[in-house]
Amino acid sequence: MPTVFVLLALAGAALAQEPLPSQENVTDYAPSVNVECPDFSTTSLIREFTPQNQSLHPSEVEYVESRLNTTVKAAWNDWLGDGSVLGYNLSAFQDVFPKVGLAIPGGGLRAAQYGAGCLSGLDSRNESSKAAGTGGLLQVASYLSGLSGGSWVTGSLFFNDWPTISDLVYGNDGNLTGWKLDLPFVSPDGDDVFSTNNQYFYGSILWSVIAKAQAGIDTSITDPWARAISYHFLNQTSRDNFFNNDTAHGAGQLWSDIPQIPAWQQKLTPFPLLVTDSRPAGDNSTTALPPGPIVYEITPFEFASYDPNLSAGMNLSYAGTHLTNGKADNGSACVKGFDQAGFMMGTSASLFNQIFDFARNTLQGFDSDDSNTLIYILQRQLRSVSTRSDDVANWPNPFSGLKPDTFEDSDSNWLSLIDGASNGENVPYGPLFVQSRALDVIVTLEGSADDTNNWPNGTGPIATQSRLSTILLSSHQQFPPIPQTAADWVSTGVRQRATFFGCNPIQTPPEYPMVIYLPNAPPITGDNPVTNTGTFDLTYPLLHTQLFLDQVHFNTISGFTPNANTPDPNFGICLQCAAVDRARTKITPAVARSSMCSQCFQQYCYDPENPPSQSELPNRKLVFVDPTPQGLTKVEGFLGTNKFKLLGGVIGLVLFIALLCGGLFWWKKRRDKKMQYSQVHDFHDDRDTAGLWPRQSMGGAARYSDYHAEAYELPPAHPVERSYEPSFVAESFVADNRGPHSP
Ligand SMILES: *[C@@H]1O[C@H](CO)[C@@H](O)[C@H](O)[C@H]1NC(C)=O
Ligand SMILES: *[C@@H]1O[C@H](CO)[C@@H](O)[C@H](O)[C@H]1NC(C)=O
Ligand SMILES: *[C@@H]1O[C@H](CO)[C@@H](O)[C@H](O)[C@H]1NC(C)=O
Ligand SMILES: *[C@@H]1O[C@H](CO)[C@@H](O)[C@H](O)[C@H]1NC(C)=O
Ligand SMILES: *[C@@H]1O[C@H](CO)[C@@H](O)[C@H](O)[C@H]1NC(C)=O
Ligand SMILES: *[C@@H]1O[C@H](CO)[C@@H](O)[C@H](O)[C@H]1NC(C)=O
Ligand SMILES: *[C@@H]1O[C@H](CO)[C@@H](O)[C@H](O)[C@H]1NC(C)=O
Ligand SMILES: *[C@@H]1O[C@H](CO)[C@@H](O)[C@H](O)[C@H]1NC(C)=O
Ligand SMILES: *[C@@H]1O[C@H](CO)[C@@H](O)[C@H](O)[C@H]1NC(C)=O
Ligand SMILES: *[C@@H]1O[C@H](CO)[C@@H](O)[C@H](O)[C@H]1NC(C)=O
Ligand SMILES: *[C@@H]1O[C@H](CO)[C@@H](O)[C@H](O)[C@H]1NC(C)=O
Ligand SMILES: *[C@@H]1O[C@H](CO)[C@@H](O)[C@H](O)[C@H]1NC(C)=O
Repeated sequence: MPTVFVLLALAGAALAQEPLPSQENVTDYAPSVNVECPDFSTTSLIREFTPQNQSLHPSEVEYVESRLNTTVKAAWNDWLGDGSVLGYNLSAFQDVFPKVGLAIPGGGLRAAQYGAGCLSGLDSRNESSKAAGTGGLLQVASYLSGLSGGSWVTGSLFFNDWPTISDLVYGNDGNLTGWKLDLPFVSPDGDDVFSTNNQYFYGSILWSVIAKAQAGIDTSITDPWARAISYHFLNQTSRDNFFNNDTAHGAGQLWSDIPQIPAWQQKLTPFPLLVTDSRPAGDNSTTALPPGPIVYEITPFEFASYDPNLSAGMNLSYAGTHLTNGKADNGSACVKGFDQAGFMMGTSASLFNQIFDFARNTLQGFDSDDSNTLIYILQRQLRSVSTRSDDVANWPNPFSGLKPDTFEDSDSNWLSLIDGASNGENVPYGPLFVQSRALDVIVTLEGSADDTNNWPNGTGPIATQSRLSTILLSSHQQFPPIPQTAADWVSTGVRQRATFFGCNPIQTPPEYPMVIYLPNAPPITGDNPVTNTGTFDLTYPLLHTQLFLDQVHFNTISGFTPNANTPDPNFGICLQCAAVDRARTKITPAVARSSMCSQCFQQYCYDPENPPSQSELPNRKLVFVDPTPQGLTKVEGFLGTNKFKLLGGVIGLVLFIALLCGGLFWWKKRRDKKMQYSQVHDFHDDRDTAGLWPRQSMGGAARYSDYHAEAYELPPAHPVERSYEPSFVAESFVADNRGPHSP
């Protein structure tokens, strides 16, 4: 019997059942529709501005400003003391300190764990960070931006009430449940996707998504993805309740509720910003996303863009409402509850239209037959679900009618939002460079995987520098000087050690912020690295997570010693020098840079006239060594053992998508045709259109390690091209998925 339909039947049966009353339930994922709108004659849900007269949401200004005078001021004093170790008299700065923002890029669970380990090294609550002098930078930060995997750690910190990283990731004896990364994202009960527990899991997820669809809001693959993210990064899922419906698993938790959390009320948290890109309606571009399309941000108050061509924001509580020229279709056509925390993180990580672009790091090295087969399967699954756009996050457009001369989606009813890294900017810098936020220092927790060993090589910062200096010239600050090519990031070594960019501006006030760059890099000790894992690793044994965080933590607090493999005992001081440096020019007369800090800057600053060299960083091991090889056995044998776990992540994801799309498709078809199935095998006829696995291979106890990609039917007349060069693949996928044309 085709077991896959058992799953679908379970999901369907659930809908038919009489719901039991319960306090929390996974259907809280559905937004409320037909909500009474505010009185548009006196209130507006839209805020418009111009690049020349840019403004921030007043509640953001109030929160950030009120922290500067209270908790942030206290944190600076706690971190730097009287400043004498740095060679300053801190009271000379008159409590006017630089405004600091942190950025956590994308890259799946690698990026999330890198961000976490790095934050722990900057957190004054961690004893070794405090002792090293690096712990404290987190507490002085006014902003924290996250994108994709970086949005998960950001959201997780807030929805767990801003705990220490150890408590957040591992859980504690109290109400923190930990990230549970040893439970695979897409098949948490192990690789038998038809096990009872896995079916419960898929059933609960589908129940949430179908509830949203029943409310009349278009769903997509981003929705089940958002729900899976919630099980790990929000606070309602423990090992004990993972496979039941005793909690809502984060359904009903809203991004706009962040200001209610205790740590926010105590002004302990920076202001969070998520980044998401857009694919303009009717865009037929044949390359990876160019820099043009609008980049959006999500704050606890607004869904907004400071890109000059839009320059507007919408009240986040009413996100999901379609507005034309700022007005709803009628007085009770508003939507609330669309800003589900998981969906906000899922939107920022909605990599499905770019999946192959995103996966270039992990698919590299596999022969083209295998990757083309995977690509084909995924395309086929997505096509089989016939909603508006299955591979993007579907957002009703609140900006319809606005700025028709410049806003590309002014005519569109929907926005297609996609992974925040889709335009090549993997570091969520955009919101931090917005002019009116006036940041002085931007700290990059750089966990991107650019090169073949999954280390960063400057690709993201180079893309941002270029977008800032062209499209965002009128609205954003500019990037300081950096090496201009990836090859230069490699040869100068700046991608393998803490580096400060923009130390020596010419103007007052400075023409760009200071950028403190803390890259994921091989251990300074010369040990084997365990932190350069693939973006599609969607499972980590607990031991790996622990070794990962400890390795990142150690590198973060250690700086580097030129031509050696030992920590720099002065790194904490040097980091303090960099963080506080811009304060010198904020007062008159300006304070001269101290000799201690000048000495630090000799070592850590990037000077384009006199660039450093990678040769100062000896014995760095670049190749990942798996610290828990036994954790991989599950996926071995899929396409040969030597292809190891990177492919496993992709397979898991593909299967997950297949299952959920299959389920959604089935539900839609059932709804449309009002079909009544009495027996499981009645579903057989759905096979072709549902596009699930070939029937022959579905009998018995199916495990995904039993499936052979070769068994999938390949498109006869329309072969996927023998290339997975990122731009091509992303484009062909998008194009294929948009029209009805079939292979
Ligand atoms: C879940 O919540 C929805 C909406 O509030 C309600 O209609 C439904 O009865 C609830 N189901 C259960 C099982 O509690
Ligand atoms: C700028 O915006 C403010 C309100 O935010 C308004 O009072 C002011 O007149 C505007 N200035 C210009 C030059 O448009
Ligand atoms: C913060 O302090 C400065 C000067 O110390 C003052 O001008 C400003 O009004 C204060 N802001 C808030 C929000 O308290
Ligand atoms: C620091 O500056 C303050 C005020 O400018 C002064 O009162 C104090 O004596 C100075 N401290 C030292 C150690 O020089
Ligand atoms: C989860 O966090 C929310 C705030 O976002 C809080 O209201 C709730 O009590 C938390 N739940 C648990 C189980 O800690
Ligand atoms: C965790 O529990 C403590 C007390 O049991 C409570 O004060 C705190 O708010 C809870 N945290 C969250 C996020 O709910
Ligand atoms: C949770 O609810 C969904 C939908 O009814 C169902 O598919 C799933 O099996 C349930 N889980 C458990 C453990 O009952
Ligand atoms: C996009 O492609 C469709 C169908 O291929 C075509 O009708 C449309 O004109 C194209 N749009 C643009 C902007 O090229
Ligand atoms: C959103 O709109 C409602 C209704 O006008 C208002 O009460 C609320 O303060 C607004 N929130 C923000 C963040 O602007
Ligand atoms: C902004 O709008 C103008 C006018 O339509 C257009 O020429 C320009 O390409 C747009 N900029 C971007 C970055 O899309
Ligand atoms: C840097 O990363 C990009 C993006 O992955 C890659 O195409 C390029 O080959 C890398 N270059 C170097 C020198 O590592
Ligand atoms: C500080 O970080 C280290 C390294 O990750 C960790 O072992 C330790 O438990 C942390 N301490 C606290 C109090 O979180």
